This record gives sequence, C-alpha cells and structure tokens, in this order.
Amino acid sequence: MKTFYITTAIDYVNGSPHLGHAYEKVLTDVIARFRRLMGDNVYFLTGVDEHGQKVQQTAKKRGIPPQQFCDEVSEEFRAVCKKLNISNDDFIRTTEERHKKVVCQILQQLFDKGEIYKAEYKGFYSTRQEQFLQDKDRNPDGRWPEIFGEVTEITESNYFFKLASYQDWLIEFLKKNENFVFPRYRQKQVLEFLSEPLNDLCISRPKDRLEWGITLPFDDNFVTYVWFDALVNYYSAVIDKPGLWPADFHVIGKDILVPPHAVYWPIMLKACGLEAPKSLLAHGWWSINGTKMSKSTGNFVEPIAFADQYGVDALRYFLIREMSVGQDSDFSLQQFLIRYNSELANNLGNLVNRTLNMTNRFSAGVVPAAEVSEEPEQALKALWEKTRDEVIPLCEGFQFHIALERTFAFITATNAYIETRAPWKLGKSAEAKDQALLKTSLATMAEALRLGVALLPAVMPETTVKINGVLGYTAGAVWKDELIWGSRLTGSKVAATAILFPRPQTEPKAG
Ligand code: ME8
Ligand code: MG
Repeated sequence: MKTFYITTAIDYVNGSPHLGHAYEKVLTDVIARFRRLMGDNVYFLTGVDEHGQKVQQTAKKRGIPPQQFCDEVSEEFRAVCKKLNISNDDFIRTTEERHKKVVCQILQQLFDKGEIYKAEYKGFYSTRQEQFLQDKDRNPDGRWPEIFGEVTEITESNYFFKLASYQDWLIEFLKKNENFVFPRYRQKQVLEFLSEPLNDLCISRPKDRLEWGITLPFDDNFVTYVWFDALVNYYSAVIDKPGLWPADFHVIGKDILVPPHAVYWPIMLKACGLEAPKSLLAHGWWSINGTKMSKSTGNFVEPIAFADQYGVDALRYFLIREMSVGQDSDFSLQQFLIRYNSELANNLGNLVNRTLNMTNRFSAGVVPAAEVSEEPEQALKALWEKTRDEVIPLCEGFQFHIALERTFAFITATNAYIETRAPWKLGKSAEAKDQALLKTSLATMAEALRLGVALLPAVMPETTVKINGVLGYTAGAVWKDELIWGSRLTGSKVAATAILFPRPQTEPKAG
C-alpha cells in the first residue's frame, strides 16, 4: 500500500507560535487523521525553519547564539504540536545534520550539472524579505511597497540557479496537472505569475551579510538562500524512507504558494531528476478581531494558553468549523464562545449528559435493546444515513466546515428526537407499549450519539475517546463499519456523568 505523505510548512523560529501556525497544524492533522480512518497508511511531517536573516537578527537582539535561540523556540513549536494532539510522525529542524547533508548534496549535484552559476548582481535588495527586487516590484508611484522594509542598492557576486530555463516545462506541468493546487482558482495565480518571464533564482548570500545558514558546498564564502534550504526539508526528512516521495500534499498558507512552493520547488525537484509533489493545499489567513495579528499590539492568540483555558478540542473544533479551507477567516473570542456554548456545550455536551442521565434513571445505567421502530426512529436513522453519505465526500474535498455543520445538525436532530419521545413521561407509565417505547428511545439516543461521535475523531480526538468511554464503548478498527446504524451499545454500562465542555463560558469583562 502506498503511504499518504503529508506535510505542513516549516515555521520560522524568529517568533513564538501563533494561531496561524496552530491552524495549519490542526488542519493538516485533521486530513491525516481522516485518511487514517479511511484506511490509508499516513506519514505526517512538520517542523521548523531555522536559518536566515530574521533568525540571526532576533538571536542577536536577545544576545544569544543563533543555535541556542533556535533550540529554545523549536521547543515551543514542538510543545504546540503536543498540546494540540497533532499526530505528526516526525518533526524536522533545518539545523539538523540529516537536513543540511541533503541540501548540500542537492546543491553540489546542481552545480556539477551546470544548473548553478556565479554572476555579478547589481540591484535592489530587501533585507526584511531577504529578496532581490525588480522594477516590477515597485508601487505605481515608484516607491517600494512597505512589506520590503528598508531597500538598499547593492553590487555583489552570487550564485544563481537556472530557474528560467524550466519555465516552459512548469507551464506544461501545470496544464497537465490541473489539480496541482487546491483550491483550484489558486492554480490560475500560478499561471499568471508564469505569464511574465522568470528570472534565475539567486540561491546564495555572502557570509559578510548573512552568516546563519548552510554553507555552500562549493564556495565557503556563501550561505544558502533560506528558501532553497527550507523547501528541501520535505525531501530530506524522508530520503531514507523508501516509498514516501513524492509527497501527496504540502499544506501551506496562501502567502507562500507563489513563487516558493508552486514555482521554485517543482523546478528544483525537476532539475534534480525528482518527481514534483502531487498537490499543494493553500489555506487562507486568520485575522484576529478583524485585524492582522500582531504581538506588539496585543492582537495575538497564544495557542497553548488558549487551549489550556478553553480545551484543546474546543479550539480544534472552532478552527475547523469557522474556516472554509482556502478562504480567510476572523478569530474573535466572542464568536468562539458563541460556538462553544451553543454547539459544543448545549448541543453535543447536552446530548451526552441526557443520554447518561436517562440511561441511569430508567435502565440502571445499562443501554437496553430497541423494541420498536416507528416514524421518529426511522426518520432519525434516515437522517443518519444521509449525513454519513454526505460527510465522507465533503472531507475528501477538504470541506471540513460543512462536514461538521452536517454532523452537528444530526446531533441537533437527536436532541429533538429525545424531546419527541420524552422518555421522562414514558418512564411514569407502567403500560407495556410505553415501556417498549422507553427502551427504544434510550437505545436510539445512545446509538445516534455513538454514530454522531464516530464522525468526530479527526477533529476532536480526545472528545471522541471520552464520549465512547462514558458510553462503555470501544470503537472497532474498521471505521466504515462503525458508521452503520445498529445496536452496538446494547448491554453497555454507561458512566454516571461526563464533563466535556464546562459551561457557561462567558467573555471576560474588559477593565
Ligand atoms: O513562511 N493565518 O514560515 P512562517 C494562517 N518558514 N496561516 C498563517 C498565518 C495566519 N495569520 N500566519 C502564518 C514561513 N501562517 C516559512 C515556510 S516552508 C518550506 C517554509 C502560515 O512561520 C503561513 O502561511 O512565516 C505558513 O504556511 C506557516 O504559517 C508558517 O509561516
Ligand atoms: Mg510568514
């Protein structure tokens, strides 16, 4: 069986992990967990990008050696993965020998093949973006856009990779692989970028300007340009693991699609005689309270602190429920609390508590067998089958927010079913018909809850285990079999109570 190999971008360690980093890891984790449920063998890589100007500068400001600084911040990123239950198989750091070795091999191979040459460059350079600029990068008024920071004119010798000679190949490749970029409309942006002639890529930085990088194997006065170094992580991490390359998905933010992932990376691989990744998934950006996140203005969410306060699965749920993959979204505590209270606490949490309470009250804590099947039971079962049949293709198409919406609509319908059957009334009657309906309603709510929860493990792994636990249930190994309406809980002993989503959660008052 071919392994499904998926990666996140590797994060710059010049700052602490933020909500955008957390989202990308959770999204990738949801895809990885979903593919495992579908029976795929999955290999999931994440990690950190540790070289470059920004890291060198930040370490300098802190007054510590860059490696020590990287060691510290990398641990913060690892801790986020652990806290958020990210199921990655490996965590790569670009300062590791295993990575540097492969970057050097690739550089030497391309140099030997004549794909890399030395030339004098005279032009404008943005230190902030670590990038050479062209006139086409200027604003219409001739000034440099603010994102470039200070721009200086420099003359220096550097090494260049023959990117331009692969332009036609890449255009052909994109035309043949229409699904290379998801969402599809972003593939057009790549082609638009390629409608202008490509320049060769400057892949070196002189050491007198930047020391913190991988020394070129063929000239030790230079270090490797950070993107040429960073992109290789996807390959260096699995070079010793047969059958993983090419990657199935690189999950990245929309800001690093063009040109690094959609132009540099496939061309670098092609030049090395390696296959391009199968797909790039470019997600949108989170703003916070309607504005760009920024530590200096306090418009910032610390993923670990937030998860500690509100729960890991609540955060995972919100990130996946709120954002349509590919689109931008806004994060606000108010919107988070609305979903937390109405969807998690009052809908799912309430269904769990009612199921436990009534099973304990009317059936000594043991799930009975259903005795009849009338319109309310049949309608709920039909809704289940419709929900399940919609949710799987939605997840295959990365429409996780709609999949969750459908799943929670089924939870809502299960709560409504309980209102219809009103077991608390049936429990007061000694009539055989009412007793049969009481058992039926207890069995039906438990089974519906089990099934609804069977659609949640990719997004809320801990909650799934907890709910199955209080239902006295252990899910089987074959996920699709778990999704069949039946009577798996008959005879199960349920717990007395469950604490899933403590409530009410209210917005902390300002001042
Ligand atoms: O770009 N919302 O690192 P990075 C959503 N080291 N996603 C966001 C975001 C936001 N507000 N802010 C950042 C780099 N991201 C390089 C990648 S890959 C070989 C090298 C996403 O720390 C961003 O889009 O700036 C990117 O995919 C990831 O976080 C790391 O960003
Ligand atoms: Mg960035």
